Amino acid sequence: MHPPTARSPKAANPATPVAADLPAPSIASYEEKTLRFATAAWPMRAAEELRSALIFRALYKASQRAGLTGDWPARVASGVHDELRHSRLCAEVGARVGAPRPRYDATPVRARLSGLPDPLLRAASLLLVELAIGETISTYLFRAGYRASREPLTRAALRSILGDEVRHQRLGWDAIGALWPTLPEALRAELQRHAAKGLAGCEQQTAKPAMLWLKERRPFEPAYAELGVLRPEQRVEAFYFAVERFVVPRLGRLGLDGARAWEQRYRAP
Ligand SMILES: [Fe+2]
Ligand SMILES: [Fe+2]
Repeated sequence: MHPPTARSPKAANPATPVAADLPAPSIASYEEKTLRFATAAWPMRAAEELRSALIFRALYKASQRAGLTGDWPARVASGVHDELRHSRLCAEVGARVGAPRPRYDATPVRARLSGLPDPLLRAASLLLVELAIGETISTYLFRAGYRASREPLTRAALRSILGDEVRHQRLGWDAIGALWPTLPEALRAELQRHAAKGLAGCEQQTAKPAMLWLKERRPFEPAYAELGVLRPEQRVEAFYFAVERFVVPRLGRLGLDGARAWEQRYRAP
């Protein structure tokens, strides 16, 4: 996969640096080994942000194909640009602190989309799982990472992304809330399963690696957190806080059984 660009909706000029107005890195005091570990997170973030851009773009296209109306499809289109900016920002920050170039892989996005051939199901499922649930969890993780960070470039970049993630999770809940009353009963039942599977996927991706780190009693240097890597205990805590205090109750307000989705996340067919 190529570096971040988007054909639809139209992307900003990819040649313009997005980190130009951020502070210079201040990394001279860190040991090389520490830096190598902590800064390797930037190319991974860049790849993850591009995944989000592809999801937003697919969601926008699905909303058009399904003929969905309201203000939210235009907000999704502008979200594509946010996510592309995040991806380029993470790649640029990585380059400025000496990290390797990102490796982009669209295979997981393609696999997710291939299971959602119908445009209405695709739009509803992406709104629910990736925007409402996923962006909520991402907001809490970015917030915790930002608060623990100290290095000025890291802090500025994380803060800039965090502001958009807060908007994206709100967009997700607003949009699925607007769409929900119009959905047929069978599709709502299917979305109950998607919520459960989505929660399991988020837990596997977000909390499980941190739990493994703790189980193996691997040391965590305080400098990692200064450079934006979230301490594993905090990662686990932020994930479960976001799910149990925010996502599950919001699913309930939507009309889904949030507690059941969470309880049965590994049993959803
Ligand atoms: Fe993002
Ligand atoms: Fe986002």
